Amino acid sequence: MDSIGFELAEMDERLEVSQNSNDYLLHPTSTRCLKLMRKKRNSSPRDKLVAQLKDLVGQDVWCEELENQVPRKWEKHGDLLLLPENSFKNEQWETLGDKLWTAVSNCLIAERVAMKRVIMADDYRTPQVTLLKGSIGYFTLPYLVHAKADIVYACEWNPQAVSALKHNLCLNKVQMQCHVYEGDCRKVCPSNVADRVNLGLIPSSALAWEVACKALKNKSGGILHVHGNVDLVKPSGGGNKNHLWWKWADEVRIEIAQLSASLGRNWSVSVDDVHRIKSYAANVDHLVVDIICKPE
Ligand SMILES: C[S@@+](CC[C@H](N)C(=O)[O-])C[C@H]1O[C@@H](n2cnc3c(N)ncnc32)[C@H](O)[C@@H]1O
Repeated sequence: MDSIGFELAEMDERLEVSQNSNDYLLHPTSTRCLKLMRKKRNSSPRDKLVAQLKDLVGQDVWCEELENQVPRKWEKHGDLLLLPENSFKNEQWETLGDKLWTAVSNCLIAERVAMKRVIMADDYRTPQVTLLKGSIGYFTLPYLVHAKADIVYACEWNPQAVSALKHNLCLNKVQMQCHVYEGDCRKVCPSNVADRVNLGLIPSSALAWEVACKALKNKSGGILHVHGNVDLVKPSGGGNKNHLWWKWADEVRIEIAQLSASLGRNWSVSVDDVHRIKSYAANVDHLVVDIICKPE
C-alpha cells in the first residue's frame, strides 16, 4: 500500500481495502458517495525494476508472462540477493545478457544476485555432498533443506558442535540424510562418495585438500568449494583486488592438480569461479574458489 496515495472526499467510516492484481481498490461498504483519486507517490523497488526491464526488452515485446516472472519477493543475505526459482525463466530474458542482472542489482539493491535452484543430477551437480567441517550446520542444512542434496557427509571434531549439528538436523527433519563423522576430517572422512566437497575452514583449508580429493568420486570427479583467507596487500608489481583473488584461485588449482595426480586421479583440474564471502579483516578477504575436477 505504501506506493499508492489516495485522496478521499465524503469518505464512509467503513472501507474495505483489497489488492486486485497490481491495482489497489477501495470499496465503500455503504451507499454514500465516494470520490477516489489515485495517484502514484514513490514507486517500489519492483516497480522500478519492471519499468527498467520494460525499456530494455522493448514496450512492444513486453507481455504479462514477462511481468509475472519479475519476482515480487526475494531473500537478502548480506549483499547477496536470492531470487525465487521461477524468476526470469522465459528465453527472452537471455537476450538482455548482463543488462538484466545489472538492472536487478541496481533496483533491488544488492552486490550479488543468485537464483534458487534444486541441485540437478548432471555431471557436476549430483546430490551427494561432503562437508569436511560440519560445524553446527550452517552449510549442512542449506544443502539438505534448500538444495535438496540426497546425502551429506559432515565431519566435525568439536563434540559440542556435533551435538548442535545433530539437534539442528532433527529440527529440520533431515537427520536421515546426514551422516555425521565425529573426529578429525583427515582421519574420519569417507573416500570415493561425494560429487561436491565443501571445505569450510578459514584462514586456510589446505590441511584438508588431500582428504577432499579422496572424498570425491574417483570415476566421475566433482567440485571442491575451497575456502580461504586472502591477503589483499598489493605486491610491488601492482594488481587490483580481483586480480589477487584469481591469482589465489589459480594457486589453489595448481596444488589440487598436483595432489590429485599424486593420488592417482586422472583429472583435469580447473577453476570454475571465485566468490568473495566477506571482508575478514583489514586487507583480508574470505574467498571461496570452485574447483572442477573432471576425469580426462
Ligand atoms: C567455520 S566452521 C565451518 C562451517 C561448516 N562447514 C558448517 O556447515 O556449518 C569450522 C568448523 O570446522 C571444525 N573443524 C576444524 N578443523 C577440523 C578438522 N580437522 N576436522 C573436523 N572438523 C574441523 C571446527 O570445529 C568448526 O566447527
